[in-house]
Amino acid sequence: MIVDSDKNILSHTLYSQIPEMQKFGGVVPELAARAHILAIDKIVKQALNDATLTLSDIDIIAGVAGPGLIGGVIVGWEFAMGLAQSTNKQLIAVNHLEAHALIPRLTNNIEFPYLLLLASGGHTQILIVRGARQYELLGETLDDSAGEAFDKAAKMLGLGYPGGPAIEEHAIGGDPSAYQFPRPLCNQDNCNFSFSGIKTAARTILNKEAEQINIKNFCASFQQSVIDCIINRLSNAIACTPEIKTLVIAGGVAANLAIRSAMEKLATDNDMKFAAPELKLCTDNGVMAAWAGIENYKIGNIMTEPVAPRPRWPL
Ligand code: KG4
Ligand code: ZN
Repeated sequence: MIVDSDKNILSHTLYSQIPEMQKFGGVVPELAARAHILAIDKIVKQALNDATLTLSDIDIIAGVAGPGLIGGVIVGWEFAMGLAQSTNKQLIAVNHLEAHALIPRLTNNIEFPYLLLLASGGHTQILIVRGARQYELLGETLDDSAGEAFDKAAKMLGLGYPGGPAIEEHAIGGDPSAYQFPRPLCNQDNCNFSFSGIKTAARTILNKEAEQINIKNFCASFQQSVIDCIINRLSNAIACTPEIKTLVIAGGVAANLAIRSAMEKLATDNDMKFAAPELKLCTDNGVMAAWAGIENYKIGNIMTEPVAPRPRWPL
């Protein structure tokens, strides 16, 4: 995946492990890391071919150094380091979360600062993005992430992995008030999330209703509870940041059209602009890493000493 500083995506090469992960109902870290090893050099060659470029045309190499499942991070980051060293090119250590946080700027033409909901399989946070490497955390999940809640609910229903797209699809046309899900923390004056209670409610409803369950109504009700929590928590964030005029969603969960449209309405109601990445740039991809590399390069944030791969790396 190759991007230039004029915001052109020269190639968007993606190797998805989803079909392999579906056999196991989720990500198996060791298998994912091995699949990375087998794929990575082919992906890089493919990205150059797709862009009709050679390595000598590339100015900067960006690699994700974390946070994430460490096996996959090690493979990607060590490869990026090796490639940069052997070609004598500048290397940028990209934070996976920052890549999600900055990608809306590639296609949406938005300026700093903005209020961001970063919702993925590993994280759910509300942040003020003031610039590359300038983040202020307003709130985050106290337990599961939003993506995890979707994945776990889908697993209970036997809808497979990843759960988010499956729940979203089944929710279409369902009755969002058919089943009672809680809205955790929604009476609290902060910007935190909690999704474990929604997950427990899903289990309780499924145990009680068993075969009688209406999957469409169940998915619509579950998704509505997540949306209500997001809107309630974001309303608190908006109330304490009146100077910020742009509301943004990023991370895998940003691919959910119902969540996007609820956030767009919230933005309109508060005289804010709304932005979300193109659908194919929401879930993990190399374009967002390349773009975060350019954003960091522009502010002179280049590597001066070796960076070790990191399973945890808060913004
Ligand atoms: O950002 P991402 O690709 O990987 C991580 O960094 O975790 O996010 C993956 C998560 C998964 O939990 C997946 O179920 C969720 O994003 N997701 C969705 C949708 N598409 C992906 N959640 C809700 N609705 C979707 N359409
Ligand atoms: Zn991600």
